[in-house]
Amino acid sequence: MAGIDDTIKAKATGPIPDGYAACGGDLSVGGKSLPSLIETEGDTPLFVYSRAMLTARMAALRAAMPPRLAIHYAMKANPYPPLLAFMRPLVDGFDVASGGEVELALAAGVDPSRISFAGPGKRDRELAVAITRGVTINLESEGEADRVLAIAAQANVIPRLAVRVNPRFDLKGSGMKMGGGARQFGVDADRVPALVQRIIKSGADWRGFHIYAGSQALSADAIIAMQAETIALTAQLAEAIGAAPRHVNLGGGFGIPYFSGDVSIDIIAVGKALQAEFDALPPIIAQSEFCIELGRYLVGEAGVYLTRILDRKVSHGETFLVTDGGLHHMLAASGNFGTVIRRNYPVTIASRFGAEPQEVVNIVGCLCTPLDLLSHAAYLPAADVGDIVAIFCAGAYGASASPAQFLGQGSAQEILV
Ligand SMILES: Cc1ncc(COP(=O)(O)O)c(C=O)c1O
Repeated sequence: MAGIDDTIKAKATGPIPDGYAACGGDLSVGGKSLPSLIETEGDTPLFVYSRAMLTARMAALRAAMPPRLAIHYAMKANPYPPLLAFMRPLVDGFDVASGGEVELALAAGVDPSRISFAGPGKRDRELAVAITRGVTINLESEGEADRVLAIAAQANVIPRLAVRVNPRFDLKGSGMKMGGGARQFGVDADRVPALVQRIIKSGADWRGFHIYAGSQALSADAIIAMQAETIALTAQLAEAIGAAPRHVNLGGGFGIPYFSGDVSIDIIAVGKALQAEFDALPPIIAQSEFCIELGRYLVGEAGVYLTRILDRKVSHGETFLVTDGGLHHMLAASGNFGTVIRRNYPVTIASRFGAEPQEVVNIVGCLCTPLDLLSHAAYLPAADVGDIVAIFCAGAYGASASPAQFLGQGSAQEILV
């Protein structure tokens, strides 16, 4: 049991997302107790994704954004097939990043005309499938444009092509920047007009622009500034080309709160500012269609990772709860997925939810590496062997973004409830 000294040593954990509740001492979502779900539906480790939370998130976002704005799902965040099928009627399009994701989106019943394919390195065979199915290709270079036009000519189809622009600006405060300098993504803005003119001349179906400046921003001001810059850049490019883009993908970048002190992005402020931009569009892009593409914002908080405590041990005065999960399923929670300083994701003891915190513990996975740390010095209710640990914000970049085969462990189960 911890004393005052131990609680002082505790490290903060991230905020538990809205939508989770206590149900007779258990963590529950959508009225279902998660520990009971493990008993009836499967075993640990288990990812649980909530339909109710996905629906609520989409409804709130639609209400905040201008009606004219289309919302696309960037399925790299979570490609679990039942989740894709559930998202299909909720969103206006799917953004994919590989031939494998094209196949998954098609298998989920997404119409190819609602799919766009970005990614700096696309193989000819991936392009061939996408082009012949009528998927929009977001071209990332002049070389890729050459290959696409040749593949389309050989297949005798008119390809749908957009150009991904590498803008001069980036997304301020973003965890991952994808513009504002030398990047492997897109075509530098000053070379875009010549490329688009070539595409139009070739007889291809030029769809417009894809401008993605960064991810994981929590500041509404940063998103507002980026969207304004993106719209201004779109108008400049259209003027230089002498043609209006039918479709403009304004990027995304809406983050979610993972860590202590993080606050949810103010989507109402973003929506109002975007409406003001739409009300004052430069004439050349006044008729264009606009979309944003979001991954983690749509699905991240709707997922939770559940893992069972296998052992409880003490070393040099610190308590370790050893679980049957680990970084092979939740790499990001271990701090090894693009973070500079490791901080604790939101965490709880799902089988003692709502109980008073009593001890400071390290929650580790079952892998033979000190990197396999799921939570460091978290102040939690007393837990023992058999109890269930829940790591939140696991709906995005969890199962599919972790090295499941490491040490022969294998994948976790996933379930949509
Ligand atoms: C082009 C593109 N679109 C969408 C996303 C999804 O980002 P997020 O999950 O942060 O919304 C990314 C993330 O890397 C991306 O590179």
